[in-house]
Amino acid sequence: MDGGLKVGHTYSLTGEYGIDKITVLLMRGRELAKGDLVYVKHPKNGSPVVYQVIKVYPHKRVREYEEALLTEGRVIDDAEDSSLHAEAYQWGWMDGEGSLRPLRYPLSPNTQVFAAERDLVARFTKPNGEWKFLLGTDPTTDLDVELGLYPLIRQSCLICGAVGTGKTTTAISMVARAANANPPVRFFIVDKDGEYSSLTDRLGAGAVLKVPWSSFFQPGDIPWDDYVAEFGWQKTWWNAKILTQALKVLYAQAATVTKANLRRAVAIVSPENLGFNKKADEWELYRAQVENAINTSRLIPEGEATVLDPVQLLKERKIVIMDLSDGKDTWEQKHLVVAQVLRKIFGEALENRKFGCIVLLEEAMYYAPQHGVFEIGEKESRGKLLSVIKEIATNGGRNGVGLWAVTQRLATVEKTVVTQCANNIICHGLEDLDKQRLAEIMGNEFTQLIGDLPPGEAIVKGTALKCRFPIWVKVLAEVYPASSLSSPMSRFVHMALTEAGVAATAQ
Ligand SMILES: Nc1ncnc2c1ncn2[C@@H]1O[C@H](COP(=O)(O)OP(=O)(O)OP(=O)(O)O)[C@@H](O)[C@H]1O
Ligand SMILES: [Mg+2]
Repeated sequence: MDGGLKVGHTYSLTGEYGIDKITVLLMRGRELAKGDLVYVKHPKNGSPVVYQVIKVYPHKRVREYEEALLTEGRVIDDAEDSSLHAEAYQWGWMDGEGSLRPLRYPLSPNTQVFAAERDLVARFTKPNGEWKFLLGTDPTTDLDVELGLYPLIRQSCLICGAVGTGKTTTAISMVARAANANPPVRFFIVDKDGEYSSLTDRLGAGAVLKVPWSSFFQPGDIPWDDYVAEFGWQKTWWNAKILTQALKVLYAQAATVTKANLRRAVAIVSPENLGFNKKADEWELYRAQVENAINTSRLIPEGEATVLDPVQLLKERKIVIMDLSDGKDTWEQKHLVVAQVLRKIFGEALENRKFGCIVLLEEAMYYAPQHGVFEIGEKESRGKLLSVIKEIATNGGRNGVGLWAVTQRLATVEKTVVTQCANNIICHGLEDLDKQRLAEIMGNEFTQLIGDLPPGEAIVKGTALKCRFPIWVKVLAEVYPASSLSSPMSRFVHMALTEAGVAATAQ
């Protein structure tokens, strides 16, 4: 590796030289930027030991009279008097088997530092094996950055970034490419706003199916207590007892839970059955209450709709999108149905070694909220969903179910889920508050690299990369989210045109 351009030497203001972090004093005319890779030669075997630049700053000798001159507006423009420093931290060196090892021997002071050339960087950025896909390019070297699929399933993935930084574009493009890998990866997408429907145009209706969330609802799988809880009744109340008895009747008849079936079952329940020995008109009052509740219930379906089985659908297509965009104030039911579906998928994966998929949660905070920070729906249904998501986050990978979480706010997503998924992280620009949270998970060096990224660019780190260190990536979009089809401006253009049209016809 003698081909690298020499950029400078290690340097220390205190006279002490470490190996995990080095300061490079750049030779005149040489440049480095944050995120660049440099290397020194291994003191024992000469292999390149790679370091990543996290900070570049000019250093100028302090002169006492400078302050006085500046107050007069006079700048001493003496190039000879300043130098460029770069701080870089160690990635390590690659041994003969392609494994990354840390340097453990000290470097002598003022060791030569070289810019890492393309082929060296490529050795660190291309994952082994063929089961991988393209994420984008590293803007400094223009090299392709690829992600290995095995680690993205085994160790999950977190895609984060502030509003409009390109999270959904990244996620949807990753899905499209992974679904075209060999073998193709299967996806179950929990899509809050219908953003993923553009996948159908890209991959075709044979590969992608979009299903409204309510079609997955399995009324028979709901514990009886949940029906009683929907109406806020105590188990010992007569109305609750009548409802439970009616559910038992349906269960005994192996009939599905629908409003019509339940009404029929309620009619069969008799006071004697339940040991009710008060007046008959009082019984009628309770019964009427139950019927009323059934009629207005949001949990009990009207008729016998065919319930879709997510596992079956995933066996038939590459991508199943569960569309949650319908029904605004029904988060309690949505949580319940998402929990049912994820349990079913995970249950199948546990039993069937020939089944697997990646579960993608768009806006993960709606499904796995951090307690006390973000709350939606009802405590009980939310808790049930969170428990299955946590289970997938911790045990899913080893059983063929990977979890990809897309989120805008790190602090709002439950800690275990974030930490598990952060084994692979694709981080777009973040708000300062979330940078602090990220530093707790990933360390300060990672957070410093993020700085202010333009939309579509991200810092990537994780087991899916060959190296275990962050790389800057310009994500190559393959598919755009449905929302990007209408920009805010195009909406106002439409409104202005319509208004002009109305005005013209009125004249
Ligand atoms: N990799 C990319 N290449 C080119 N343009 C991109 C890329 N990523 C995002 N964009 C642009 O930025 C816009 C916003 O992207 P996107 O909707 O993916 O962001 P988001 O972070 O998911 O936003 P939100 O916070 O609203 O969900 C897109 O409409 C697109 O125009
Ligand atoms: Mg989005």
